[in-house]
Amino acid sequence: MPEGAVIDDPKQKAENARKAFEQEFEHFARFRAGGASGDAGLALKEAEALERELADLATRHTGKKSELAAVKKLIGRVAPQERASFGQLVQQIEAGIRGSIEEAAGSLQSFIRDARLERERIDVTLPGRRPRRGHIHPITLVRQRIEDIFVSLGYVVEDDREIETDFYNFTALNIPESHPARDPQDTFYTTEGFALRSQTSTVQIHAMQRRGAPVRMIAPGRVFRRDTPDATHNPMFFQVEGLCVDRGISMAHLKGTVDEFVRRMFGPETRTRFRPSYFPFTEPSAEVDYSCFKCGGQGCRICKGSGWIELGGSGMVHPNVLKAVGVDPEEFTGFAFGLGIDRMCGLMYALDDIRLLFENDVRFLEQFN
Ligand code: DAH
Repeated sequence: MPEGAVIDDPKQKAENARKAFEQEFEHFARFRAGGASGDAGLALKEAEALERELADLATRHTGKKSELAAVKKLIGRVAPQERASFGQLVQQIEAGIRGSIEEAAGSLQSFIRDARLERERIDVTLPGRRPRRGHIHPITLVRQRIEDIFVSLGYVVEDDREIETDFYNFTALNIPESHPARDPQDTFYTTEGFALRSQTSTVQIHAMQRRGAPVRMIAPGRVFRRDTPDATHNPMFFQVEGLCVDRGISMAHLKGTVDEFVRRMFGPETRTRFRPSYFPFTEPSAEVDYSCFKCGGQGCRICKGSGWIELGGSGMVHPNVLKAVGVDPEEFTGFAFGLGIDRMCGLMYALDDIRLLFENDVRFLEQFN
């Protein structure tokens, strides 16, 4: 209130209230005639802050404790002959104040609404972001093909544990105490004396304990050996075990089954050859080779000039193995085999280093569909 104003003049008081408002309202004057929508420089946050300021200003100048409220109370107290004209003046001032506030509030509100809409706008016609598609690992691709072939021959697919006791990894498989495979140099042991299985042959034992005989099963899975990784070795790799036990099973069934498998896997011209070998869990035992899928047996880079590729080990299940799981070897006989998936995979995709299969470099893995 200006110094020296006549405080007890009611009209002066009313004018002072108007002036005080107008001074403060200066700040909002640009919003008076819907000006805000054109104000590109105004950010949404600023507008929201201004809206709050404006609400405070309205309370200060039109609320119960405002100067205007005090002036309105004077209406009943002025001399009767001045009351009408004073009343009119106050009304006019109030209407002016409320009108200015409403106008500014209105244009601020519409500015804020537009700005929020703009911020939330999405273009539904834009193409979406495509999720990057994964790929099946080459080992899995080969494993699935092997599974499909054996399932169609009436085999079940078994899965079992990767950490084993001595009994399953060695004893039940007729592997004697002195056998080098038991050496910690070759097999990983846990501190509690469990072994990371060094072959999937362990699943023969679990499967026969569960199912008894007859049984036809394959068991693909991880195995572990203490090898130093190089282009052809890895301490973890994949095998597929096969087992067929029934009455009257002979080596002829083994040969017929393996022949059928390689023909479906590598083409109808593929041949096999069996070489005598030794495994504790089979008698007799044989190594199986198949004619090279690349050159058909002529000799090439893939088969290292021999025309043959090693498939794996096989043989007639040793009677001691059947006995270990309570199957009578007088009634039942069977054959078994074990193949390396990684080697097969490496040859089929012409990889010059099998470590590529476990490095999980997407640039490598993306090439297999
Ligand atoms: N378990 C053998 C290995 O890891 C492979 C093998 C050979 C499995 C002969 C068999 C078999 O079932 O009969 O080298």
